[in-house]
Amino acid sequence: MSLLEELSGIVGAAFAAEGFPSELGTVQPSDRPDLAQFQCNGALTAAKQAKANPRAVAEKIAARLKANPVFSKVEIAGPGFINLDLSDESLVERMRTLAADERLGAPRKGEGKTAVLDFGGANVAKPMHVGHLRSAIIGDTLQRLFRANGWNVVSDVHLGDWGLQMGQLISEIGRRGIAPIYFDPHYQGEYPAQSPVTMDDLEELYPAASAACKADPKRLEEARAATAELQAGRAGYRVLWQHFVNVSEAGLTREYGSLGVRFDLWNGEASVECLIGPMIQDLKARGLATESEGALVIPVAEPADKKEMPPLILVKSDGAVLYGTTDLATIIDRVRTSGPDLILYVVDQRQHTHFEQVFRAARKAGYSGKAQLEHAGFGTMNGPDGKPFKTRAGGVMKLYDLIAMATEEADKRLVEAGLATEYPEDERNDIARKVGIAALRFADLSSHRVSDYVFDLARFTRFEGRTGPYLQYAAVRMRSILNKAEEAGLESALKVAPSTPEERTLILQLLALPNAMAGAEHNRAPNILCDYVFSLAQIFSRFYTAHHIMSEQNRALQLTRLALVAATLGVLSKVLAILGIEVPARM
Ligand code: ARG
Repeated sequence: MSLLEELSGIVGAAFAAEGFPSELGTVQPSDRPDLAQFQCNGALTAAKQAKANPRAVAEKIAARLKANPVFSKVEIAGPGFINLDLSDESLVERMRTLAADERLGAPRKGEGKTAVLDFGGANVAKPMHVGHLRSAIIGDTLQRLFRANGWNVVSDVHLGDWGLQMGQLISEIGRRGIAPIYFDPHYQGEYPAQSPVTMDDLEELYPAASAACKADPKRLEEARAATAELQAGRAGYRVLWQHFVNVSEAGLTREYGSLGVRFDLWNGEASVECLIGPMIQDLKARGLATESEGALVIPVAEPADKKEMPPLILVKSDGAVLYGTTDLATIIDRVRTSGPDLILYVVDQRQHTHFEQVFRAARKAGYSGKAQLEHAGFGTMNGPDGKPFKTRAGGVMKLYDLIAMATEEADKRLVEAGLATEYPEDERNDIARKVGIAALRFADLSSHRVSDYVFDLARFTRFEGRTGPYLQYAAVRMRSILNKAEEAGLESALKVAPSTPEERTLILQLLALPNAMAGAEHNRAPNILCDYVFSLAQIFSRFYTAHHIMSEQNRALQLTRLALVAATLGVLSKVLAILGIEVPARM
């Protein structure tokens, strides 16, 4: 139970004892931390309900709370707010519980529940763009958070491997005569195990194919026909396609891995291919899918819609299936294989209508089981020109390039700050890489996901302010304080209750971890964790400036403060790990 839940329980019981609903006892951190630690505003609502004087109601509640030794102060402010302070003894007692808990009080919101997290979403052969980067960072953070909160998580990259780009590639390769065997309709033998194209080839082939299709309608027609034939099962195309997927997957695993992002499943749109036929039969048989201008669609508009909601297209007139078709079949597959309570899609906000169509179709058809279907959208990372960010002078964005840029910038900052200058080269490079990734990840996560933000590496990599590197450095400093203490033979322990405002504020912030984790899960909002952890680092820094530790003469006080350092490092490391930020051993 979090501290706020515990306090709300106590205050709620007081409300109940006075004949009011216990929910009115909800306690929140005070809006005026200079006046009190916590507040409860329930007396105002209670008074309205009972047509009584709010201060009089607050008095009655306060009288009950004063009897509880958990509080050192119970005061009524303004029209009837109840202000509360915890006693120092209660604070240290709860701090001891936190320090002894290996989960550090993490909420168990997801115990017994399964969530499928769909993020990453790179497309086979097509270059990744900033949308994919954001999806990877936000989705990976949510998967770490959900796991920390007790959920069983199945993450799936859901590769884009069944769309038009496949037909475009196939027809481009056919035209160039690179691997004629795959195009010979009479070929009966085995196809080569080795891919006829490498990742580098694909990087050249796809843009060429895509440009040709834009310029020439005949080429587009050809690509469409190849897509339909691939989906219909033409043998040579299937094998060729499998080569593209394998080559891309190997490259993507490395790219995502370099950002610290991992997936449980490497399924793609095509993984549910065998479910599509039966699904369409079923939808037709139940009258849910209808013909419209040669295509097969599911109407999903609802009377309450304010905007036009187009039908979900399942099969085009040429027989090809679409993005929405595979997404719908993927829901069937996920419900069957994982029986999830939640399927969460971390995908660009601009795909919102697509997901609304798919979700409505799934619910209409009864495919979603007990799963809640939810799209957690996000805005774009823009360049200084206000357009989606691109590297290499406007060229495609590769995670490698991005990480290399961030590492280089981090290296400059390390030199400026005089950090890690004397370490062996390997270690230094490793530190620069970790700092670079921390800069990228924290910058992406720290504003609310639906806002756009501007890519500004110089700012992201600074060691001061709201940045990943600042937090890494804070953690490294805490580690070094603890190392020094250990060398001096001091073993930290919470011996005494807090006695200064800085100690109390630090303890309160540490005890607020479960709320930050629960709030971030509830809102699918990693920025809540960023705010929390940045405040923690600042509060710690004020605590550390205000108190001596190594030179403290009072041993009990010294060991207690060391224990607070250790607890802060524990909480900071836990949150940074959820954000996917690694802390170097030294800097
Ligand atoms: N491949 C898609 C894209 O590049 C993203 C996939 C998102 N996930 C999904 N289930 N539709 O836009």
